[in-house]
Amino acid sequence: MQFVDELIADVDKALRVINGVVFESRPNPGRGLPDGVMSEAEKRHAAGLMRVNNVGEVCAQALYDAQGRFAQTPEIKKAFAHAGIEEEDHLAWTAERLRELGSHTSLLNPLWYGGAYVLGSIAARLGDARNLGFVSETERQVEHHLLGHLDKLPAQDNRSRAIVDQMRIDEIEHGQAARDLGAAEMPAPVKGLMKAMAKVMTTVAYRI
Ligand SMILES: [Fe+2]
Ligand SMILES: [Fe+2]
Repeated sequence: MQFVDELIADVDKALRVINGVVFESRPNPGRGLPDGVMSEAEKRHAAGLMRVNNVGEVCAQALYDAQGRFAQTPEIKKAFAHAGIEEEDHLAWTAERLRELGSHTSLLNPLWYGGAYVLGSIAARLGDARNLGFVSETERQVEHHLLGHLDKLPAQDNRSRAIVDQMRIDEIEHGQAARDLGAAEMPAPVKGLMKAMAKVMTTVAYRI
């Protein structure tokens, strides 16, 4: 019976995320900031980058949901649930910014969510230390990626920049929390594979 309840909860979550029904627990840090004047090309570029970040957060929801679901101890499950709430803020903020830029979230969100859920389930089955190691490495790569976006976003796009900056601060904390809970170091080939998968996602999500 518990399995059925969990299944329903996970499907509900997936549908909510894919359809953009998300809630913020903290206000959008970009909201209300003066919007700099951007050309149409700059707006399109900013939207492409923010769509990539939105997809990253769709994946984070799926990963954390699966990793928490199949984690082995209640303490670790709780940690995933907590981080998942902050990730939902990121999801809501990036979606709001995309709307402001006159753009849309990725049309492939069901695919991103499904793929990430499978990946998270595999990581969790490898035991808590590796499960946390996967978080630590993911967050390290995301932090690096967000730093790159602060370079690439138009200088006058104050709202997107404020969102990306707060996301970066949060991702650093999530990575540290995973290491504090006993994350194992990922083998180099796994790190390389994660980077390659992220490259595919960022390239596609910028456009679609
Ligand atoms: Fe995030
Ligand atoms: Fe995170």
